Amino acid sequence: MRTVEWDGSGVRMIDQRLLPADFVVNRYTDYREVAEAIRTMVVRGAPAIGAAAGFGMALAALQSQARDRPQLLRDLEEAAQRLKEARPTAVNLAWAVDRLLQRAADESLDTVDRLRQALVEEAQRIADEDVEVNQRLGRHGATLIRDGDTILHHCNTGALATVDYGTALGVIRTAHEQGKRIHVLVDETRPRLQGARLTTWELQRLGIPFTLIADNAAGHFMRTGQVDLVLVGADRVAANGDVANKIGTYKLAVVARENGIPFYPCVPTSTIDLSLATGDEIPIEERGAEEVVGLRTADGRPIAPEGIPVANPAFDVTPHRYVTGIVTENGIAYPPFDLSLRRMVLGEQEA
Ligand code: MRU
Repeated sequence: MRTVEWDGSGVRMIDQRLLPADFVVNRYTDYREVAEAIRTMVVRGAPAIGAAAGFGMALAALQSQARDRPQLLRDLEEAAQRLKEARPTAVNLAWAVDRLLQRAADESLDTVDRLRQALVEEAQRIADEDVEVNQRLGRHGATLIRDGDTILHHCNTGALATVDYGTALGVIRTAHEQGKRIHVLVDETRPRLQGARLTTWELQRLGIPFTLIADNAAGHFMRTGQVDLVLVGADRVAANGDVANKIGTYKLAVVARENGIPFYPCVPTSTIDLSLATGDEIPIEERGAEEVVGLRTADGRPIAPEGIPVANPAFDVTPHRYVTGIVTENGIAYPPFDLSLRRMVLGEQEA
């Protein structure tokens, strides 16, 4: 199944908190539950939370008791606010919610029933487009991968982080499907371990060779010539090419540059936020201490003393000077990014 999908009257999502031990699908019929599922990371990954929020808006339209269009629009605004607050960094969430609001603003949808129907269809379109966009992105990105390459990958950017197929992992998957012999070094991605828990699960199912490494080992593998390419996803890209992605990405980019290794974020254009001039304006989500200190040793003991101070920023910003290029569904953007990203967003294909 898809990571996020509509079943006619509710949204179904793979519960990513339980993988790889258990494969459980949750069903939601209340947009407030969807917002909570995004916040607690039942569903995660920028494009996947965008699609989930889109269906959340469709649910809000179905749930609303409004008898007329103005009241339904007010209910949708309230839902939009709640959904957008669920997680701040990935711009796909606000992008999807705004797209639904824009659809709702179409005055030709003059009855509540027409409006409801149109919103369900628009949310479904977002989900369907995501799969098609990732496949196109995969084909562009795969041109960067040579037979025999070893690729370093951070977090999870696969089918689970999207509606299906994946972004950076979609690129890797395309190269594998093209018959290239590749190997993936998978960062475990502390604190939530999306690499260890989710990326290895996906690669195993796809039959793509990989090795899991501790985050702290990435520099060693790069310095000793064991990495040809670094591929990551992103949660928001500013107009100048600064990239917000899972915490730890910045360190990878700096060490990649130091060792002459190309570093490419892979993103759908819905992740590019041209309204922000630089990455300094991207809001960085701070998550709870429990994610950092909640792990237990194999014999069930705490990994840190109780009650200690903890900081847990979930994302960091990589300045664009460390970014070799940005892979999108419309081609690969290269510096100067302020020009090339604009072209990608406008849908101009790579020359
Ligand atoms: O906190 P998460 O797991 O939602 O963070 C996800 C990431 O940082 C991904 O790398 C990013 O969203 C790109 S996913 C296609």
